[in-house]
Amino acid sequence: MGILDLPRGGPSGYPGSRLIAEGVTVRFGGVSALSGVDLELGQSEIVGLIGPNGAGKTTLVNVLTGFQRPTQGKVELDGLDLRSDKPFQLAARGISRTFQAGRLFRRLTVRENLEVAGFHTGCTRRQARETADRLLEELDLTAFAGSTAGSLNYGHERRVGIGRALATKPKFVLMDEPASGMNDAECEELVACIAGIPAQFGCGVLLIEHNMKVILNACERIQVMDGGKRIAMGKPKAIITDARVRAAYFGTRHATAAGGNGIH
Ligand SMILES: Nc1ncnc2c1ncn2[C@@H]1O[C@H](COP(=O)(O)OP(=O)(O)OP(=O)(O)O)[C@@H](O)[C@H]1O
Ligand SMILES: [Mg+2]
Repeated sequence: MGILDLPRGGPSGYPGSRLIAEGVTVRFGGVSALSGVDLELGQSEIVGLIGPNGAGKTTLVNVLTGFQRPTQGKVELDGLDLRSDKPFQLAARGISRTFQAGRLFRRLTVRENLEVAGFHTGCTRRQARETADRLLEELDLTAFAGSTAGSLNYGHERRVGIGRALATKPKFVLMDEPASGMNDAECEELVACIAGIPAQFGCGVLLIEHNMKVILNACERIQVMDGGKRIAMGKPKAIITDARVRAAYFGTRHATAAGGNGIH
């Protein structure tokens, strides 16, 4: 099949599946965590999702992965309505995630953590082992295969978390702040690891991150949220100079949100 014959469906004309949220609203009692938010993610791209604390980023990922039902709005994978699917059903459809705080089995080895994640896809023990081998190699974790997950530094721990998400052979992996707590060198390794995911694993990435260096180096498009709404979406260069984005970070309401790793 030539390149021109590939199925086209992604937001930028890329081949592959398309995950979308349209007009998603989530209310917790009187709090509107999300108000009519849209998002589109193609299977071969890396999209950043940024915004000050409490903007609704994690809530949106929770909606896309079945951990939170939307009060209103659509969530679709290639036109299929996902709103009533549970997290394990969405994982089986190819939507995987990492968590804001690591959720590894700390007493199991790195290899075992990857194998256990693979088992959930219903594969054989041998297939799970083969997948784990490939992930150990591609994520540069082979040296730690026999170490317990609890003994790893932040950088390696997060990479195992990403490996666990990839072990389910997803079409999309949604990452919630994978760089938090990492030093500069670990962040650089993480960016290299994330940047390779679409080509190596055929998988689109949604990356929530406060560290702008990581976002700018890894993402082709960036969606910015504030107060439960999408305030901007575009290429990195346009986003960093966008007046609404700068106001969200430096405005009076969120004066501290840009500190440290925010937009500079
Ligand atoms: N289970 C919940 N019950 C009530 N309110 C919630 C719940 N989860 C989130 N919220 C509220 O919804 C809003 C959005 O929260 P969310 O965690 O999605 O933000 P975030 O952008 O991920 O922030 P951060 O950058 O701090 O992780 C916040 O006001 C938060 O307090
Ligand atoms: Mg969050």
